[in-house]
Order: sequence, then structure tokens, then C-alpha cells
Amino acid sequence: MSDKKVRISELLQQMTLTEKIGQMSQLSGNYGKVSEELAAKIRRGQVGSVINEVSLDVINEIQRIAVTESRLGIPLLIGRDVIHGFKTIFPIPLGQAASWNPTLIQHAAHISAVEAASCGINWTFSPMVDISRDPRWGRVAEGFGEDPYLCSELAIAMMQGYQQDNFNGLGAIASCAKHFVGYGASESGRDYCTTNIPESELRNTYMPPFKKLADAGIASFMSSFSDLNGIPASGNEWLLKDILRKEWGYQGFVVSDWESIAQLQIHGLTENDKESAYEAANAGVDMEMVSNTYEKHLRELITENRLSIQQIDSAVSRILSLKHDLGLFDSAYTKQSDYPALANGHHLKLAKDIVLESCVLLENKRQVLPLSLDSLNSVAVIGPLADDGYEQLGTWIFDGDPDYSVTCLDAIKNEVGDSIKINYVKGLQNTRDCSQDEFHSAKEAVLSSDVAIVVLGEESILSGEAHCRADIGLPGAQEALIKTLSSCGRPIILVVMAGRPLTLESILPDIDALLYCWHPGTMGGPAIADLLFGKHSPSGKLPITFPRKIGQIPIYYSQKHSGKPATEDSFIHMNDIPQRAEQTSLGMSATHLDTHFSPLYPFGYGLSYGEFEYRDITTNKQQVRIGEGIEITATVTNTGQLAAVEISQLYIRDLVGNITRPIKELKGFQRNFLQPGETRKLCFSIHTKDLAFYNRKMKLTTEPGLFHVWIGGCSTTKLQAEFEVVK
Ligand code: GLC
Repeated sequence: MSDKKVRISELLQQMTLTEKIGQMSQLSGNYGKVSEELAAKIRRGQVGSVINEVSLDVINEIQRIAVTESRLGIPLLIGRDVIHGFKTIFPIPLGQAASWNPTLIQHAAHISAVEAASCGINWTFSPMVDISRDPRWGRVAEGFGEDPYLCSELAIAMMQGYQQDNFNGLGAIASCAKHFVGYGASESGRDYCTTNIPESELRNTYMPPFKKLADAGIASFMSSFSDLNGIPASGNEWLLKDILRKEWGYQGFVVSDWESIAQLQIHGLTENDKESAYEAANAGVDMEMVSNTYEKHLRELITENRLSIQQIDSAVSRILSLKHDLGLFDSAYTKQSDYPALANGHHLKLAKDIVLESCVLLENKRQVLPLSLDSLNSVAVIGPLADDGYEQLGTWIFDGDPDYSVTCLDAIKNEVGDSIKINYVKGLQNTRDCSQDEFHSAKEAVLSSDVAIVVLGEESILSGEAHCRADIGLPGAQEALIKTLSSCGRPIILVVMAGRPLTLESILPDIDALLYCWHPGTMGGPAIADLLFGKHSPSGKLPITFPRKIGQIPIYYSQKHSGKPATEDSFIHMNDIPQRAEQTSLGMSATHLDTHFSPLYPFGYGLSYGEFEYRDITTNKQQVRIGEGIEITATVTNTGQLAAVEISQLYIRDLVGNITRPIKELKGFQRNFLQPGETRKLCFSIHTKDLAFYNRKMKLTTEPGLFHVWIGGCSTTKLQAEFEVVK
């Protein structure tokens, strides 16, 4: 038995039941002071973890109490949501996902961890890997978008950034796969709502990122708030025991979400806290976040033989195992001088670099971008988000500091120097403002300028947990502002900061360029300015589909074919229907009458200052035997005038399956920097295990049959080849 196992087993033998239950309890900090109640509980060994304490002095003090004043001296896990940065704030995870750059995401997570660890934090509740295809849901900001493959690749990178190599490295902290599972399918995009997800959809869409993280050694899982097919995840034995433990063999520990165990009663799964404690502990939630049903009722449940001491010991040993792996038994204290300064130059430079690759250029009519300094005398900068260092940070920025932010206005002024006049008008007090009082001065500013950069979108509070929207257009009078400005006859460059896709179809005729920057974080301004003035070409690609209208939701690229798929010639628009339309469905298909069935912008889409052409897709074999691999190649050429990065994507389709299969599935991507005129050969390798899916018997299988394969710069690519999988 390893010395870790020996140590944990010896400790378990010494622990009283009170102390064991204490390890399974996470209490909330007191935000900057050590309350006597918390100190007393720690002394009695009744606390395993503290959440939301970020004062290093306080954290070192509560660690001291735990280590020197409790009977067994077991140190504490100190948890905090470090979702996209600690003091240095990076783009929201949905924005980071648009970079399709695992390396950058890993670096950002590493810096986030180092900054958090320097304040005594040793565990973060991230990465959030809830697949979501519903931008009404506020938490779509927090994840990596709609696709399991992209989400998995990026989540592994983020986990590695936090945990480094098995916590060896300055600032390594434990991470947490959340919210297990299916939370992103919350009905109507309202947070905390019911999720009804068939098992095959759970296994083929929602679980893969969690499975990848479990296999990669993520330190913990968080059970979701949500009701999963009638049994809330935080009390769901099938999920936490049959799948996570028995089928996946996961060895880490499971923490509940905030009071999600006590909420089992509110869901109506249990009658009271005691039953909630039973359902959660029996299902396999090892640690209770903030509610105290375990502290109050586990002892009784063991006395009544409804729970076994073995169940408790398993939970406690998993928690102690992480504390051991984090080195907390050797030293639980933090010396800030061991760490680099918060928000230092290196951290801020990376924060800018990741914004440069996260922004997505969605429109660029007549190549109006990049702007050329030589041809401009004056630039109008308009909008409530043009100069707001707080709002550009986005959701989940507990420890961010807007004083470090550089706004678009600051950066544009810095970019143009004294040679170009900047005419700045906020135009609206905030993004929800419906007043048009400043429209006149905004219009004047644009009329006296050569071009207008308009920075609009969502304030950060319109995004994130519990901040869902039934209408996902530009809030307030922002659309009216754009239409007012577009009447000035100057090029309108729209820069959007938001925590989700917005429905922008109605304003597209009024703008000349659209740069989607998500909530870009501390260094949003300088990166956006570099992109607008051509110091860097946009390269981001959408990690989530943009609907034309909210009524299209859910809309995502990897939909099923259906028996009557939408086609151009079967789409009839409401206005095309003759005055008296007789009842018929013949020749009809899966479309709406009042909007085209395509998205406004598809998954994987993004323009750049280069132009990319794909040709010559081939496979190195026509048939691939199950258990072997196949190579797919193509060429990509930058036919544009400017050098740029292109993210090339590989998609497959399994034409016939034991259950119906998506019309496309992302199975690879790579980034290439190409000079004008340069051609690069792309080579992707696929193993037949990458084509596996859970069939109607819930068995993970790769089936023989015909596959289509595509390569291109977007999920709508038409460059196609095919191959056959054979036994
Ligand atoms: C919140 C969130 C969860 C977060 C936790 C601690 O309600 O659902 O993602 O990690 O509570 O803040």
C-alpha cells in the first residue's frame, strides 16, 4: 500500500465520526475575518473546507487553527470560483473557446491559479463543461459552447493549467468538473430549471467532456443543482455511483453545488434535511457545500444503519487524498513573496494575447477593416461599453479589479496618438438605457468623423448564473442608436461585448463591420484596438451557433437529419404563401415560416483579414478497418492580401447508425498562420475509436458503414470526401 494510502488509513482510524463528518462539510468564509464560530468549528474538526475567503491573512490563520489547534491537525481546502481569472481577468470561457487555442487557455488557467494560490486558495470550481445550445441561459458564458469535442479539448487544457503536472509546480491548485450533468439543457434557458435528457443524449453529448476530465485526473466533480430526468443530480445515485464510480472508475471526490443538497427538499425529492442528507450521501456526494444537512443528520443515519461507516470512510478518504496530493499536510501555509505579483506585465500581456485570438470577425463589408491610420483624420467612439473597465470583465469576476482594465476608448486613443481626433460620446448610460437623450450628440460626433467605432452589447450583469434572458437582442435603445448613427453615412464598425450570442439580424444592414468580443476581460481594449487597426488579424471561430431569431433555439450545427430535412427549395416564407393557403404539408420540411432555417452565423464561423481557400481533400485509404486509423488531407491557401491565422476544422458524418447520428461532428482542428499566397497542406488523423457512439443498448461502439468527411474553415464547409469503416 502506498505511503499516501497508509497515511490516510491511519488517519481514518484515529478520526471520530464527528471529525469524519467535518471533512465532508464546506463552510462559507466570513469575507476577510475569522468568525469565532468558524474558528471554534475548525478547532472541533468540524470543517473540511472553506469557500469564499480570499484574505491571505485570514486563510493562513484558519489553516493555523486547523493544523495546530484541532485534534488531528487536518488542513483545509480553500475553494473559490476562479472561472476566467483571479486578479487578471481573461475573456469569459465562451470567449476563450472562440480562440480554439488550448495552449493559450492552459496558460491563462495557469496564471489564474498562480494568482489565486498566492492568496491561499488551493481549489477552484472550474472548468465548467456544461454543453449548451440555448443562449437564453446566462451560464452559456461560463462554458465552452455547444460542441462536446471542442469543449473536451479546451477543458483538458484549462484543467492542466490549474493542476499543472499532478500539482507539482508553483501555484498548482485543484480543479473541478462542473456541473455534473446536463445543466446546460435547462428548460427554456432559465437557470436551475428541469432538464429532461434521454440517456443516449446524455452519453453522446453532455457526458463526454466530463468523462475526458475524469480520465485526465481532474481532482473533483461538482454535482449540479438541476433536476435530471426527475432525480436532481445532487441526489442521483445512477449518475454519481453507477456512472461516475462504477462505470468510469473515477477516484476524485464530488462536492455538491451551493446548498444543492438542502434543495433536494425544495425539488420535492425529499421531505426534510435528513432525507436530503441521506439521498445525497447515499448517491455519492462526498462534500456538502455550505448547507449543513450532513453535519446535522449523518450521525443519525449511520446509527439507524441507513448509511454505512464504509460510505463515510470512502468519502473522507477521497477528500484526504486530495489534501495529501496538494501537499497540505506538509505545509498548509502560503507565503505571498513566493509568488509573482498579481496582474503583472506578463499576466496582462497574456490577457491581451488571448483576447486577440478570442474575438470573432463576423462582418467586414467592402473590407472596411482593418482601419488605416494614414487615411483617417477623426474617429468617433460611441457606446456605453466603449469606456467601462468593469463591464468588459464579464460574469464571475469576484476578485477582478477594473482599475487594471484598459478600455476600448483608452486603447484607441493610445493607438492613434495625436494624429487623429477622437470624438467620444457614450450615447447611453448603460446597455439597458432606453433614453435617446444623447443620440443627437452621438450623431454629431459621427458626422464630424471619418468612421464610427460603436461599442455595444450586454452589461456583465445580464450574463452568468441566474441571469437569463427571454429576448437576446441588444438591450435598451442600442438598436435605435445604431440606426440613428447609420443614417450619418459614415462606416459603422460595431464591436459587441456580450456573454452570449445575440440576435443581431435586424441591425446588419446598418453596419459595415461586426467584431464580436464576448466579455474580453482586463485587456479587452488594447486587443480590440490592435484588431481594428490591423496590428493583428482576427482569427476567432464561433464555439456556439448564433440564431437569427430566438424562436429557432435550440439551433446547433450537429443537429440530426430528421425525416424531412430543411432544404432551400422546400423553404417557403410566410409572405410567399398565397392569400388563401390550402391545408397541405406535402413538400414541406423542417423549417419555420417566418425565418430562414439557417443560423445567422454557424458554429466554426469567423472571418479574418486573410481569405482562405480549401482544396484537394483526400483520404489515404477508401476503407479503414475497425481498430485502425485513417488520414484525411487537404490544402488551404491564403488568397487574401494580408497574413492571418486560419483555424481549419475537420467534420465527419456517420450516415447510418444503430441510432440516428448528427449531420456533422467536429473531430479535429488545427491553426495555421499563412502569408498572402501561401498554401499549407493539412493532415488530420482519425482512429475508428474516435467515431464511436453510445448505441441503443448504451454500448460505446464504432459501427461499420459509410462516413462523409469535410475539411474547411467553418461547419458549413462543402469540401467533402468519404471513406468506409469495415470490420
Ligand atoms: C454557484 C454555482 C457554482 C459555484 C458555486 C460556488 O451557485 O452554481 O458554479 O461554483 O455556487 O460559488
